[in-house]
Amino acid sequence: MLGNFTYCNPTRLYFGKEAMQGLEKELPKYGENVLLVYGGGSIKKNGIYDQVVAALKACGKKVFEDAGVMPNPTVEKLHEGVERARAAKADLILAVGGGSVCDYAKAVSVSVHCDEEPWEKYYIRFEEPTCEIVPVGCVLTMVGTGSEMNGGSVITNHAQKLKIGHVFGTEVFPKFSILNPEFTFTLPKYQMIAGFYDIMSHILEQYLSGTDDNTSDYIMEGMLRSLIHSAPIAVKDPTNYEARSNIMWTATWALNTLVAMGKDTDWEVHMLGQAVGAHTDATHGMTLAAVSMPYYRYIMPYGLAKFVRYAVNVWGVDLSGKTDEAVAAEGLDRMEAWMRSLGLVMNLTELGVKEDMIDGLVKSTLVMEGGYKVLTPEEIAQIFRASL
Ligand code: NZQ
Ligand code: ZN
Repeated sequence: MLGNFTYCNPTRLYFGKEAMQGLEKELPKYGENVLLVYGGGSIKKNGIYDQVVAALKACGKKVFEDAGVMPNPTVEKLHEGVERARAAKADLILAVGGGSVCDYAKAVSVSVHCDEEPWEKYYIRFEEPTCEIVPVGCVLTMVGTGSEMNGGSVITNHAQKLKIGHVFGTEVFPKFSILNPEFTFTLPKYQMIAGFYDIMSHILEQYLSGTDDNTSDYIMEGMLRSLIHSAPIAVKDPTNYEARSNIMWTATWALNTLVAMGKDTDWEVHMLGQAVGAHTDATHGMTLAAVSMPYYRYIMPYGLAKFVRYAVNVWGVDLSGKTDEAVAAEGLDRMEAWMRSLGLVMNLTELGVKEDMIDGLVKSTLVMEGGYKVLTPEEIAQIFRASL
């Protein structure tokens, strides 16, 4: 393990078919004004809204609504949410939805009692909150981001063509999250598989970095194998509880800070994907899927030993009589075949990117330093071009 670290995860999880019972256990811990935050209305169609409102009423809460949180929540919506939370004098922000709703709730939570403009403070200057933070709870309906048990909050600024994530500290993590795998059954296939790839990407961003022997890498190999096994089952049979529940649990642990402890991490695929998101508003997981293979094939020679380990331990590639390069390449080929079999978007053209947008995408891409190769702007352009 590298460096020194402190580990604490304060989010209480309620998992399983009866998870909603946890909401009535948690609500009494907070004041009476609840800001109920949700997206475009899927929770009204699948009945989750009614269950949440029943629990809020049973606990005697005054409910104020903030609906219409869009996928990839915008800075304009954030400003609106802050006003709503202030008007409601919110004691709790209850996010019911996917990563977008949960991320947005966290961004509102750190801005309600803050006089400064939140985009500038948290997303440009990357400052930490110094004001009172309104507690957030989450009822998760879409699996992938890990937002249910982390401090991540990604906001998009279309005017500035920037999509930026602030990873807040444990004080901003949801206080509790309700994880009922059945709540994810109604997801359209496109969203479902995008979420599955988001999970894989979160694990790989942390796994494909560093050269030390590290417990986290062994944990991640197990999580990847579980995901690779369950995802095709869920694609064929979306209401397969066993597969959906395993995937939900893997998603949470893929990005709840545990596996990043004591090791290097990369996150460049997310930086490339977020640049695409800022210019196209495409679905997060698909932006990652579209750039991943060109990125990994490009950096593979710089981190060859780890790519060999990935091929053998995760994809079951046989070492015998092959060069390291051939083994690593076979691992990536198997990964690509798995991605295609799920139906993921494998190129940027399908997401609306054109050759003449590449200069703009490069400018919107943050460069990380924890991967096997710190990319130059020319290399970023080359990867985008190879992803078209
Ligand atoms: O808006 P509604 O009607 O709810 O529909 C949503 C939305 O259209 C729909 N949906 C969600 N649950 C559903 C459902 N439809 C039917 N049945 C259900 N049960 O799915 C669509 C996508 O939802 P969204 O919340 O946008 O998806 P996701 O969970 O992938 O969140 C994406 C956002 O999270 C950020 C992304 O950048 C993006 O902005 N991320 C957050 C991270 C974090 N907090 O750590 C890390 C990630 O890497 C990611 O960047
Ligand atoms: Zn992600």
